[in-house]
Amino acid sequence: MKRQLFLTALTITIGLGSCTKESMTADYGVIPLPNRIESTEGDGFVIRNSTAIVYPKENGKLQKTAELLSEYIAAITGMELSVTPAEKRGNAIVLKSNFACPNQEAYSLTVNDSLVTINGSSDAGTFYGVQTLRKSIPACSEGKQVLLPPVEITDMPRFSYRGMHLDVARHFFPADFIKRYIDILAMHNINRFHWHLSDDQGWRVEIKSYPKLTEVGQWRKETLIGRAGKDNTQCDGTPYGGYYTQEEIRDIVQYATDRFVTIIPEIDLPGHMLAALSAYPEYGCTGGPYEAATGWGIFPDILCMGNEKTYEFLENIFSEIMDLFPSEFIHVGGDEAPKQHWEECPKCQAKIKELGIRATKKHTAENQLQSYAVQRLEKFLNSRNREVIGWDEILEGGIGGGATVMSWRGTEGGIEAADLGHDAIMVPHHTLYFDYYQSEDQANEPLSIGGYIPVRKVYEYEPIPSVLTAEQVPHIIGLQANLWTEYIHTPEHVEYMLLPRLAALCEVQWTQPEAKNYENFLCRMDPLFRTYDRLGYNYAKHIREDSKVAFEKAKAVPQTAGQAELESVPVGLSE
Ligand code: ACM
Ligand code: ZN
Repeated sequence: MKRQLFLTALTITIGLGSCTKESMTADYGVIPLPNRIESTEGDGFVIRNSTAIVYPKENGKLQKTAELLSEYIAAITGMELSVTPAEKRGNAIVLKSNFACPNQEAYSLTVNDSLVTINGSSDAGTFYGVQTLRKSIPACSEGKQVLLPPVEITDMPRFSYRGMHLDVARHFFPADFIKRYIDILAMHNINRFHWHLSDDQGWRVEIKSYPKLTEVGQWRKETLIGRAGKDNTQCDGTPYGGYYTQEEIRDIVQYATDRFVTIIPEIDLPGHMLAALSAYPEYGCTGGPYEAATGWGIFPDILCMGNEKTYEFLENIFSEIMDLFPSEFIHVGGDEAPKQHWEECPKCQAKIKELGIRATKKHTAENQLQSYAVQRLEKFLNSRNREVIGWDEILEGGIGGGATVMSWRGTEGGIEAADLGHDAIMVPHHTLYFDYYQSEDQANEPLSIGGYIPVRKVYEYEPIPSVLTAEQVPHIIGLQANLWTEYIHTPEHVEYMLLPRLAALCEVQWTQPEAKNYENFLCRMDPLFRTYDRLGYNYAKHIREDSKVAFEKAKAVPQTAGQAELESVPVGLSE
């Protein structure tokens, strides 16, 4: 069967949610831009105090989504809408999930004079329809009537993997902030939260079978002040720690699940393990003693993968990780693991011999040992129906099994993975590292690791490399931005680095490229900024003025029937 969806053309989408004293008009040109928006006949739907949000009886997931929609509307308008499984005729927002579409995150959103219907191809699709509806309501709606113009929206994401990462090892952020972070991701239709839970500077997840991982490994004795560099050894003299209990993790996982965000936990190995080694030095090549790092960089002490006991250590840790996180994907790191200790370690060298590993032109023996370790762990995770993700270094000793590659050093890792028949996620540092500066005027920015990634650069990123063949393209399952926190100490600073670059990212993840246009995006950012203000998010202001100007300019152009004329470009979508 052939199904046709339509892309909204670039010239449209400015519904211009207008503010008057008594009433507000919704604007469906939200971020990420829905793929098809069509005006229909009628006066539209007025949200009132008496409006009910209706979900199907015995669908607990949609009940939760209905409750969230009620909270979202309350936060923007002050109206507290009731949530009910009962049939209600007239003035209701009805949630359903039987929209026939092969894409499992698609939805339709239909507004007529008496009913708003959000129908997902799954409960997740319905959730994204709810996100579109809540973002279409202007932020200055408190105490006013809200008019939803009649419309038919049909929408679905471009990529199935839409990720955002957070490093909580370099700096720790409390559980309540992690929930707020997940709320922000969900608002931007992001469905994967990559949680970097361990590194050289701290171990952040309680593991019951190895209590010292948090008792000892959460701590570093102090923290470097200023930018890392050979000449800078000045530290603050203050011990730094923090970790999540298993109870907190379970609560956060549920919170994320309710928002259709899957948490992908990362335990980075065999490098970036100093904090773990400070607690259990017997799993290092030299036996220690080790200390969690107080500064930033790459450290030579890594796990000894010649020692059978290290494999047992890792399997026990990952068993608990899998008990905590239901995610299909488990991230095992694999990046930046210097091999000089392995070259000298009798156990590592004996293991290389035992395995019959020989150095080749392409792969050193030690890189192949890392590859063996990752593949052995992969088999263990596969036995519990989980799949492995690793940083692109997992290609270096030869990749096996079905590992998915996270291409961070550029796009080459993703291209090589796709060429080898593996899936890949694009996270190239040059475009998607949100710890990089947002302005060239670095003197007026908080200290950062370096680089320069303005919003526009993120927005204009195209994740499918042009060199890929038609068969290879589906191996690029999506993209993600990373937020490393060496220089980010507070939740407010995390939000500053995240927003509004996340808005640009989510449109690359969701919207078909033909419908993307930066000027149009800027214009649509204006209402989103006002929503950020309303919700108290601490976003960076670099494009705030430009977006206001773009919005005002678009408002000056006459619109038809409160909504710009919609022009549609057909996109064939085979079922
Ligand atoms: C990385 O940035 N080391 C994955
Ligand atoms: Zn060793």
